[in-house]
Amino acid sequence: MRAAWLLLPALAALSAYYVYLPLPGAVSDPWKLMLLDATFRAVQQTCHLIHSLRLSHHLTVLNYLICTFDKLKSVSSEDIKITDAVFDGVEVRVFEPPSKGDEDLKRSVVYIHGGGWALASARTSLYNNLCRIMAESLNAVVVSVELVPEVWFPEQYHDALRATKHFLQPDVLAEYSVDPSRIAISGDSAGGNLAAAVCQQLSKDEDLPVRPKLQALIYPVLQAFDFNTPSYQQNMNMPVLPRYVMISYWIDYINGDYDLARELLINNHTTLNVGPALSFRTRLNWTSLLPPSFKKNYKPVVQTTGSAAIVEQLPALLDVRAAPLLADDATLARQPRAYVLICENDVLRDDGAMYAARLERAGVPVTLDRFHDCFHGCMIFTMWPTDFSAGVQTRNSYIKWLDENL
Ligand SMILES: *[C@@H]1O[C@H](CO)[C@@H](O)[C@H](O)[C@H]1NC(C)=O
Ligand SMILES: *[C@@H]1O[C@H](CO)[C@@H](O)[C@H](O)[C@H]1NC(C)=O
Repeated sequence: MRAAWLLLPALAALSAYYVYLPLPGAVSDPWKLMLLDATFRAVQQTCHLIHSLRLSHHLTVLNYLICTFDKLKSVSSEDIKITDAVFDGVEVRVFEPPSKGDEDLKRSVVYIHGGGWALASARTSLYNNLCRIMAESLNAVVVSVELVPEVWFPEQYHDALRATKHFLQPDVLAEYSVDPSRIAISGDSAGGNLAAAVCQQLSKDEDLPVRPKLQALIYPVLQAFDFNTPSYQQNMNMPVLPRYVMISYWIDYINGDYDLARELLINNHTTLNVGPALSFRTRLNWTSLLPPSFKKNYKPVVQTTGSAAIVEQLPALLDVRAAPLLADDATLARQPRAYVLICENDVLRDDGAMYAARLERAGVPVTLDRFHDCFHGCMIFTMWPTDFSAGVQTRNSYIKWLDENL
């Protein structure tokens, strides 16, 4: 009995140690964020344990847990009609506001969900809820693209592209009463990566009868060239996306080996002796693309010699379809008007900021929406028990921009 009383404070101290994380003063709801992060870390560590015992792939287990937990929540919607469909072999979920008789055609958003190209689903309550609210507030048809788990690049990219191109056909748009001149392509995190890549590919397609009017990218992942940008350095331990987790999502996306992480961490794949990387160096120049306020104590990591074999074996690392930030200026100049949302406390902040700067220089009108107290992934966290003021704040700003520009 007495031993139990001694154990209790020890356990409490241990859990506090596990949960506590020094966060920047500006982040909103810090304790809630620490709890979310600790839960996520504990679940991820369990999945990695199962993985190392060779029982199952860690992403399979993680996805299973996310979807099981998600079933406990229900999202009801009285007004919005929700249907599942298949667009050129790709599953999509369509959210349609009620039709009010003889009204005009509706606006529309193609939405690609986040989750490191491998987790979550268009059917989870987090994304269901977001898309329903978008359909309601914009009175728009929202097409939420489902990504298949357990595949790698370029499958996710091809799926997003196929579903989008199918939807952009005049007869399909007519079927959903969508105005062909008022369509946006959008997505968060890895979905923002796919949205940007899809827009670039559509812009090269000469025969396309209908083109998107806008793109809206929410804290997008846009490059695997440099894992030491100022934001990667400043936020390397930031929940819910520490740098090593982002690097492992990349490794999974391009089907690489986890041992690569050590090399990617120090940019050994894009050193000055790696020929194919050289031409991209000028396109990803933090000195000219980021304002000084982003840099703080930043020290660029540019090594002289590294491993040229990495990019030879995994060309996807420098493939613009996987890393849209590396596109050439001529492609950028053809992109639709853009909205890029970035969070200060996010390793991906500078991916988004640099893409916004490059688009703007190429002559594309861009709105860069920067949130100082927000963290990566916040926009989908708006429902109890993972409700954050950062979630509502970012979502409102995003929907407002769409409303004013679409
Ligand atoms: C990056 O931009 C700065 C400032 O414009 C310039 O001095 C530098 O040479 C550029 N670096 C590369 C690799 O292009
Ligand atoms: C980076 O590349 C160099 C040159 O090939 C190699 O000696 C070094 O071990 C590599 N670093 C890591 C962390 O693998």
